Formats: sequence, structure tokens, C-alpha cells
Amino acid sequence: MTANELRSKYIDFFVAHDHVEISGQSLIPENDPTVLFTTAGMHPLVPYILGEPHPAGQRLVNYQKCIRTGDIEDVGDSSHLTFFEMLGNWSLGDYFKEEAIRMSFEFLTSSRWLGISPDKLSVTVFAGDDDVPPDHESAAVWQALGIPQSRIYYLPRKDNWWGPAGATGPCGPDSEMFIDTGIEGTPDSRPGVSDGKYMEVWNDVFMQYNKQADGSFVPLQRTCVDTGMGIERTIAILQGRTSVYETEVFTPIIACIEGLTGARYGKDPETDRSIRIVSDHVRTATFILGDEKGVSPSNVGQGYILRRLIRRAVRHGRKLGLSREFLCDPAQIVIDMYRDPHPVLQQNRERVLDEMRGEEDRFWTTLQKGEHEFEKLLPNLLKNPERTIPGRLAFRLYDTFGFPLEITEELASEHGMTVDRPGFDDAFRKHQEKSKLDSNQTFKGGLADDSDVTTRLHTATHLLHRALREVLGDHVAQKGSNITQERLRFDFSHPEKMSPAELERVEQIVNQQIERDLPVSFTTMRLDEARDAGAMALFGNKYDEVVKVYSIGDFSKEVCGGPHVEHTGQLGRFRILKEQSSSQGVRRIKAVLES
Ligand code: ALA
Repeated sequence: MTANELRSKYIDFFVAHDHVEISGQSLIPENDPTVLFTTAGMHPLVPYILGEPHPAGQRLVNYQKCIRTGDIEDVGDSSHLTFFEMLGNWSLGDYFKEEAIRMSFEFLTSSRWLGISPDKLSVTVFAGDDDVPPDHESAAVWQALGIPQSRIYYLPRKDNWWGPAGATGPCGPDSEMFIDTGIEGTPDSRPGVSDGKYMEVWNDVFMQYNKQADGSFVPLQRTCVDTGMGIERTIAILQGRTSVYETEVFTPIIACIEGLTGARYGKDPETDRSIRIVSDHVRTATFILGDEKGVSPSNVGQGYILRRLIRRAVRHGRKLGLSREFLCDPAQIVIDMYRDPHPVLQQNRERVLDEMRGEEDRFWTTLQKGEHEFEKLLPNLLKNPERTIPGRLAFRLYDTFGFPLEITEELASEHGMTVDRPGFDDAFRKHQEKSKLDSNQTFKGGLADDSDVTTRLHTATHLLHRALREVLGDHVAQKGSNITQERLRFDFSHPEKMSPAELERVEQIVNQQIERDLPVSFTTMRLDEARDAGAMALFGNKYDEVVKVYSIGDFSKEVCGGPHVEHTGQLGRFRILKEQSSSQGVRRIKAVLES
């Protein structure tokens, strides 16, 4: 069964069971600062699970594009993916455990649908703990359907409890379905042990609680069902493959990479790893670039993940022997492959390919400059009898030329040398301490003093930054800020002059936020946590540096040293005086607050 067939069957089955098919949503979550990307089909449905009526009714089904970036560095083995499609059906206060499980069983085992033998099916249910009792109810339904007790496993919260990726939101016990692949497992093999014997195909979550920020569980007004079946993984199992990379979702991409590089998949583990990394990353990058919300590569948020994916793909393309830009070829295959289920890629084809090529070119240039520098250093380096490259030199290549450490190491090894890693880390740390000092000095930077007037203008600057991103797009990043008693001045990346309508819209958004009288508050966290939480941040500080993150209600979240007002209502009326060019690709706005 192909991905396309599985997708259609799933939708048809649930439509036949009185569900309404709804569209999947953008990869960029709406109104959710807790995650960068949509991580599950239920994500866009959270408000409805929490009680809002859904316009399409109480029984819903769809397929949703998802990205999970927690494990970018794990991609390269035979199972990890950053992008996948999730099939899901929902009951919003309609059916609960019994009907959900009965439908899951029918879809999996009926010869009209997936036709999997019930003998191959094992399931798990929640074992219970101090807060919630064991889920005997689900176990009883499975048993009534003919699954023997020996294949019903009670597992603890870490296995059988599900909530969205953010720390808060709807959650509850779940029941997971596993297929026995027939391969020899480890002696303690069971569902949930990843030895390849039992593969999870589906998860029925019984949403009963709304987890609060303080860790407590508030029961939902009405219980809901949220289910998720990953398409790539499920077809691999149905096709009897040991890896998602062997299914038709990846084979054309892999064939394209083989054609470009002359490398062969399935011959040696290192080559396979690089081919999988390129395949996964180019597919995910294509979906991010081609999303309804059109993200561009940048140094913050989703744009930063996109940049990492493209650059890691290039590094591995290079390992496979390429020396020029190549990602557009496999990207076109991805666009064509998803023509029917995801026409948005086709609609944004030009944009996807332009941005992909641009980012790739920039990185190839970086690599060339770095290699050139390395070659200049080489004669001296070879004189070193210890055959090591000093850490501070490797750091200079990284810091000045953006040359990744891995590539310095690779070049070093080609000449029988190694890089002094502790020395590199040391230079990194020293640099970080220095930039912390600098940034402490410049934190108030941009602020001429901390009088009430400048503090108000500073908060207005955050509102402006956020509003610009809303109106112009996520490529807007702060390039500079300067505040005096008279006005704020804000420089930001944007390729062209803003239209009067855009300026008016920005002004309007800022003033709306002022009228909402939003509270301003801050918390401290590590920079990488801040980024994951969706905070706007300037790049350059190290990921584990602890920073202050200022939130203005639900509107803006930004890494910043302060100071700020306590409520936006204190700001007065925001007015833009002027919008002009500041330098190549950078615009400048001057604005005031009027009482
Ligand atoms: N939302 C649940 C999951 O992702 C179904 O597994």
C-alpha cells in the first residue's frame, strides 16, 4: 500500500463513519508561542478540544503535515524523520474510548481496509498512577474485540500518556497499537521497546485533562478523542520494509541524489547516512519554504531551523562528493510528489526554489572561503610535529568565516591532522564570556537613558518589531535600535520600501496592542529554550547562555535586557514619522508616542 492509498483509505473510512474531512493546517502554528512547528494533527485543534465549538462538527478527520525538530542530529539512521504526515480522527465531545477503539480495530484489520491479521496486533493501555486510575476500560474493549490479555500491555505515564509538545494543554491516557514485524526481538521485547519487533502504527489519545502551567490537571468539560497515525512509518510496516527510506516516499529522492553524486544507497553505512540526511532535510526544507506561511532562512525561530536543515544537507552533499549547489533537483521531486495532497508546494514552487538556491549558494560561498583560508594556513600547520590544529585557529575559521568545525576536522584528517577540540571549546567559551560582557554593556544599548519616556519607547519598539513581522513576514529581523527622549529608531531587514498601506497596518496593529493594555513581564531561560519558545532573538550569543525573555501579553516575546513598562496601556498613541532605507536590504523606521 502506498502513502497515497493509505491517506485516501483513512479519510474514506472515517467519512463512512460520519466524520467530516477538514483541511490540514500550516506547519507554523497559529497563536501558539510554545512550539515552532505543528508537531501533531491535534495541534491546530487544541482550542476545540478545550471546548470551543468546531464549525465542521464533532467528528473530524484529516491529514496534517508535521515537523519534529527535537532530533535533527538523529536523522541519518534508518528511522528518524524531521517531517512526516499524520492521519488523525477526532471526537470533540462525541464518542469516547469504546467507539474509538472499535473503529481503530476495524480499520486495521478489516479486509476492506488495511487487512492486518489481528494475530499480529498488540496494544498498550495506561497503567495508572497516583493521579489517574489504570485504564481497564480500554483494555476491556480490546479484549472484547479478541485481543488476548497476553497482548494487552499496561504501561506507565512515560509510555501511555499524551499531551502536546508545549508544557501545557489538553492531555490524557492513550492506547497504542503495534504490529509484530515477525523479526527476532531482544529477550525483553515488548511494545515500547525499540528493537524493531513491535512497531507502533497508531495512537488513540483519550483527552481528559488540561494541564496548567503550574503542573496541575484540570478535567476537561467534555472528553475528546485525538488519534494519530504516521503515514511514512505505517506504509513501511505495511510494505514489509525495515526503513521508511525504502518506501516510495523516499526512493525517488534517493535516486535523484544517487544520480547527482554517483553514490549508491545500500552499499556502505556512512554513504547511506549522508544520503538519508540529504533526503530528509531537503524534503522538510521544501515543506517549510513552501508552507502557506512562507518562512525564509534566517537566524531566528523557524527560519533558523530551515537554515540548519539546508546547511546540514549541503554538508552531507559535499561528503557525497558534490561541490556546487544541488538541492533544487531533489526539491522539485518533492514538490511533484505531493502535487495532489499538498498543492501549496506547487503554488509556491518558484519561491521554494529561489530561496533554496539562495541559501545554498550563500553556504557554498562560506565553505569555499573557509577552505581557501585553510589552504593558506596549511603550510604552517604541517610544520607542527604534533599534527594538531590549534583550537583557536579552528575557532577563528568558525567565527570569522562561518566555517563549520566538522569541516575543519574533515580537512585536517585529509592531511593526517586532528583539531584540538578542547582548545576550540575553550576559545568558544572565552568568546562567549567576552560577548556576554559586551552584550551586558549594550543591553541597555539603543537606550540613551532609562527615563520613563525612553522606557515607553523601548516597549513600543518590541510591539513595532512584532507588528512588522506580522505585516511583512518572518524575514524581518532587528538590525539596530536607538532610542532618545524624542523618538525611537528601528532598523530591520526587508528588501524594499514599505507601502503606505503596510505602514498604516503596522501602526494600527501597534495601537491595537496598546489599547488591549497587555501586561509586560519577563522570565529568564537559556537562549536555546527561548528560541524553542518562539522568542525573537538576535543571533550570536551562545545557545546555553541565560537570557531574559520579555513577553507582551500573547503578542510578543523577545530576548531583551529591559527595561519596559508594566502595561502597554501606559504607552499613549504610536505614530510612524518616517520609513527610509538604512543600508542594502535594511529599512529604518522612526516613530513617536503621543499622549
Ligand atoms: N496526538 C497524538 C500523537 O501525536 C495522537 O501521537
